[in-house]
Amino acid sequence: MRWPSPVAPEPVEDDLVVETPLRPRTLDDYIGQESIRENLRVQIAAARSRGDVLDHVLLYGPPGLGKTSLAHVIANELGVAIRPTAGPVLERPGDLAAILTNLERGHVFFVDEIHRLNHVVEETLYPAMEDFQLDLVVGQGPTARSIKLPLRPFCLIGATTRAGLLTSALRDRFGATFRLDFYGREDLQRILRRSATILGVALDDDGAAELAGRARGTPRIANRLLRRVRDFAEVRAQGKITRTVARDALALLDVDEAGFDKMDRALLLTIVDKFGGGPVGIDTLAAAVGEERDTIEDVYEPFLIQEGFLARTPKGRVATALAYAHFGRRVAAPAAQQKLL
Ligand SMILES: Nc1ncnc2c1ncn2[C@@H]1O[C@H](COP(=O)(O)OP(=O)(O)OP(=O)(O)O)[C@@H](O)[C@H]1O
Ligand SMILES: [Mg+2]
Repeated sequence: MRWPSPVAPEPVEDDLVVETPLRPRTLDDYIGQESIRENLRVQIAAARSRGDVLDHVLLYGPPGLGKTSLAHVIANELGVAIRPTAGPVLERPGDLAAILTNLERGHVFFVDEIHRLNHVVEETLYPAMEDFQLDLVVGQGPTARSIKLPLRPFCLIGATTRAGLLTSALRDRFGATFRLDFYGREDLQRILRRSATILGVALDDDGAAELAGRARGTPRIANRLLRRVRDFAEVRAQGKITRTVARDALALLDVDEAGFDKMDRALLLTIVDKFGGGPVGIDTLAAAVGEERDTIEDVYEPFLIQEGFLARTPKGRVATALAYAHFGRRVAAPAAQQKLL
């Protein structure tokens, strides 16, 4: 049997199939992220009662924290249709025009990976967002002329793992920006219990606590671990996920007590063992562990930094005392390390 990495950067195929029924549909189903939910509740209720179109919303945060889910929840709560697309799919202004001219008033236009829009499309989007108007150039050469096309007001929801890569011009055109945070254990346990109910898996409280502690603060990983551990429980433990069953399954999956998988460990141990604890440049580190720089920055680092295992310094990445302790290593204490101890 093949065990996919629990923190694979792209949703693997079986995720796409299984994630759908697990996706929350309403703000009540959507667990955690309290302040975002409260803000949205108010904004959605106000827009609905005035008959207004919801202001454009930008959602950002690491992969698997629920941006796509939240975009669908917002559309559902507004009672409108959602038209999803992604930054790299919109190659030409015409692609954007084709979608925008077909939107009904108030509908949600969801652009995933909005940091990957090319600049021509992005510039076409500005007047569309601000004045609900498209400025298009038709024809070529001397006969080219620009036309203005009015649009029905819509709500753009943009999602990105890299808010830092957005131009300020684009960022400023969103009426509301929300940063999704990693989830605490309680929230992850609630998500796991909800998923277990939907999937018909027997999961006891201790089993849920064990999985929650190893899910890297991420609902997608929690759900993925649940499914992998369910396989194990069915084959080895009459289908019930208890703490012991979860522990044995996670050991087999190579997920340790902190929720680290092979790549997390490779990253930290490479800094510790090969680079004396750091600082080491991100490109050097990427080459040393054989992973893409972007994947390290988007998928692995945010959690390691948030949990205090890794630090970003102007000179490069540094393994902290907590990382040394996690692997039972003694701190070599080079200059950069001492500052962090
Ligand atoms: N707040 C939540 N409550 C319950 N389940 C959630 C929540 N957030 C996410 N999930 C679960 O996690 C899965 C992944 O979430 P989602 O696809 O929305 O993440 P994402 O932020 O869009 O990730 P990516 O950056 O990779 O696109 C969902 O299918 C859903 O099952
Ligand atoms: Mg998504």
